[in-house]
Amino acid sequence: MSNLDKCQLVDLRTIHDRRGNLSVIEAGIDIPFEIRRVYYLYDVPGGAERGGHAHKNLYQLMVAMSGSFDVSLTDGINQKKFHMNRSHYGLLIYPGIWRDLDNFSTGAVNMVLASERYHESDYIRDFDNFKNYVRSSHEV
Ligand code: TYD
Repeated sequence: MSNLDKCQLVDLRTIHDRRGNLSVIEAGIDIPFEIRRVYYLYDVPGGAERGGHAHKNLYQLMVAMSGSFDVSLTDGINQKKFHMNRSHYGLLIYPGIWRDLDNFSTGAVNMVLASERYHESDYIRDFDNFKNYVRSSHEV
């Protein structure tokens, strides 16, 4: 199974009652990594695009805490697209995957749980470099 195949929506454990909903993410139980960092995107202007990069080693889980947005994933060959609009779904993204985010609604909040602290050296920000990286990692 490729890393792109493994990128999927996780239906988070959710406890519903009359007071509302509560969704839970426990590292190592609901997601296959320890959480070393949390960041979130918000106040994204209409028409703006985020992402536009891949990570070499980072695992992430993205959750639409509010509003909606689209996430396109590719391994350089195949693609997958997700419309994120429910807070009980997390999108699990494996290393070595290029992501583009767009179509943010007003008030959209994308919370990202990440397996590592921020290291610019883990980013690949050029798509041609990404394709070369994927090709060379297949040769190993
Ligand atoms: P970037 O990862 O390019 O944002 P996105 O994927 O949402 O489009 O990050 C934007 C800027 O923020 C860039 O200068 C790096 C910085 N940044 C940090 O300092 N720490 C972080 O944890 C993240 C995710 C980004």
